Amino acid sequence: MKNSLFIKATLSEETERPPVWMMRQAGRFMPEYWEIKNKYSFLEMCKTPEIAADVTMLPVDLLGIDAAILFSDILVTGEAMGGKLSFEQGVGPKFSNPIENSRDVDALEVNCLDNLRYVADAIKVIQERLAKLGDKQIPLIGFAGAPFTVMSYLVEGGSSKDFKKTKLFMNNQPAVAHKLLEKIADVTVDYLNMQIAAGVNAIQIFDSWALALSWDDYKDFSHYYIKNIISRLNRVVPVISFCKGSSVFAPLMAEAKPDVVSIDWNADIRNVKQSLPQGMAIQGNLDPFVLYADKKVIKEKVLRIIERMRGEKGFIFNLGHGIMPDIPFDNVKYAVELIKEFRY
Ligand code: CP3
Repeated sequence: MKNSLFIKATLSEETERPPVWMMRQAGRFMPEYWEIKNKYSFLEMCKTPEIAADVTMLPVDLLGIDAAILFSDILVTGEAMGGKLSFEQGVGPKFSNPIENSRDVDALEVNCLDNLRYVADAIKVIQERLAKLGDKQIPLIGFAGAPFTVMSYLVEGGSSKDFKKTKLFMNNQPAVAHKLLEKIADVTVDYLNMQIAAGVNAIQIFDSWALALSWDDYKDFSHYYIKNIISRLNRVVPVISFCKGSSVFAPLMAEAKPDVVSIDWNADIRNVKQSLPQGMAIQGNLDPFVLYADKKVIKEKVLRIIERMRGEKGFIFNLGHGIMPDIPFDNVKYAVELIKEFRY
């Protein structure tokens, strides 16, 4: 993978253009995804290595992106621990046995790697497919949810607008919340090290809902566990830390010592990059809503970010959050092509 632009950027080596991939690139904005999705449930797709590999390869083949991301979900760790998980059309993820108290937390399994073996199997199939691309050297990114974000689903029983149950849980039963976060962190370390052993070329940790937290709560209930996880990973591949809320939390994200900090779209990416320790790369940060717009606007806003990063090593182009399912495929392809044609 030495020649992969993506890997070079994670190492803060010089690249002739920024590498590009997009969060949620393996998904519903592609008609080809629906051809598969119409035949299987989402969890069946994740748990059948050949199908997970087919979906992982769609954006590689159809968009020509510089990195693949494993087709799975951040909530599979919660399921492996004992959460009863389902994904329903138009409803999103559901845990039908939400966590309410200490007893519920005690009942969760920590030695549950056997329940996640299908992910290692999928990684092996995907790597066989990527190897067939020859010189192209497309790395595979593995991932997991950050403990706070996973906890929010386990406690809310699904998605939430205000995280009311999660915050009540953290405020009224802090010791129980910490016990839960510690369990999720332990599982996440085993799970990510399993992915690394199975052959992923990078790891990303998703803390999608960190922006709901105050500074102190982010520090105690999120950052502490991310830092702990990163310190226990087998650091033979680069580690990317993503959160929404990064304009505020970037200094703490950096303090957890990932190789790459992945930011949402609020901040000036150059300013954040320059605030990071020497040699720590940055990923971001196009507002995904730009991809709904006219091509002229897409071009202007994509190039503005690339120009802003001129002269900075260690930059991976990405969105500030995932692609929405109804973004036109053509627009995404246009943006990827623009970035791939650019030369500094
Ligand atoms: O392309 C990729 O990024 C790889 C696959 C991937 C999925 N989920 C597939 C998926 C990744 C990296 C995730 C991460 C994930 N899952 C996050 C963190 C990233 C983010 O967007 O914040 C979160 C918060 C989840 C939880 C989750 N999974 C939600 C809230 C939903 C429903 C809402 C939605 O966006 O669909 C899912 C379902 C899900 N995960 C789908 C896919 C392709 C849709 C399933 C379907 O086809 O119905």
